[in-house]
Amino acid sequence: MTDGNITKDIVYEAVAPDDFESMIELDRYEKRSTAFDKIISATHDHFWDPLDKKYIDFDEPFDIEHVQMMPDDQIFQLQIPYVRDHLEKTGQKVRFANEMQLWSFSSILHGEQGALNLSASLCHVLKDQGAQEYAANQTREEARHVTAFAKYIKSRWGRPRPCGTVLKALLVDIISAPEVYKKIIGMQMLVEGLAMGAFATGYKYNQDPLAKKLFQLVMTDEAFHHKFGKIWADRTIPRMSEDERNVVEDWAAHCFQSLVMNLGSPQQQAEMYASFGLDPEKVVAGLMEIRSEARTRERLRESTNIFRVLIKTLLKAGLISDRTKAFYGNYVDMDELKSEGDRMVGDDIAEEGIAYLQTINFKDRSNAAAIRIAAE
Ligand SMILES: [Fe+2]
Ligand SMILES: [Fe+2]
Repeated sequence: MTDGNITKDIVYEAVAPDDFESMIELDRYEKRSTAFDKIISATHDHFWDPLDKKYIDFDEPFDIEHVQMMPDDQIFQLQIPYVRDHLEKTGQKVRFANEMQLWSFSSILHGEQGALNLSASLCHVLKDQGAQEYAANQTREEARHVTAFAKYIKSRWGRPRPCGTVLKALLVDIISAPEVYKKIIGMQMLVEGLAMGAFATGYKYNQDPLAKKLFQLVMTDEAFHHKFGKIWADRTIPRMSEDERNVVEDWAAHCFQSLVMNLGSPQQQAEMYASFGLDPEKVVAGLMEIRSEARTRERLRESTNIFRVLIKTLLKAGLISDRTKAFYGNYVDMDELKSEGDRMVGDDIAEEGIAYLQTINFKDRSNAAAIRIAAE
């Protein structure tokens, strides 16, 4: 393949990251697509500032010692009888459950930092001025997410946990990749899709009102980021040759597997398990057991389930064919998924959040237009 960037649409035309000379071609300045104008100008409507108490107050207290943030059935480790029994017997369940939240918020924080660097890197490869302005805007939004999650972790736990090795490898891979398809599939479609699913779950179940508020504010931005990836897929994938599509399909499966492994890999947290008196080997064995059980698959049916969201995104984008259908079939019922609608999980929460932000940002203006853009 000669074109490593697989450029099929002028809006997503891409060059190598070190090819600045292409950016100063005179003809380029005369062209600017209007494809992203709406999502660029909508950024004013869903503006928020993590340092301004008018939007969110990180000084709000929460009794983290005694109140369990997420219910038992949302913590997969507590589905392992060995883990649950040990923690209940030793009176450590709340502390363990909240420690798992620290790991989860830390992954989110590292993911947000990845999104910041990735969207900045898109400015170097996307040639269209409109696409560049969109990416620069997203970079600014990811920067406020990094600040917000860093402040939340500081207020609840003091310090984040390190990034898991699998997530770290994926982030390094997509940020340094010169191919725009790797960046857009890896980040805009999968990591952003995963974020929407995880934030929707957090918004629904987290007992800390500050966490709920934070998830909703972040989702008002993320709904647009995911949409950027979807627009790329709609315009690009149908025009690819079969060989190109296969390359992209395999990349998507690789990213998906990395994210699944990162989410459910106790090997990455052996020390943490040991600190609760749990044997990491036994946790791994217990995890294998529940994975093969039907009830785990049953839980995947819930619309906020994160794997399900990702698979649906890839399916709708035409990135799952007979070659990879069986691989994803390990996680969801593919036939059932096909018949579901297009609406993205979390869109409702994001729309509500945007309406709320508009009341702060434009007290004297009634404008419902931007609320609808995220879901278009
Ligand atoms: Fe973000
Ligand atoms: Fe994002």
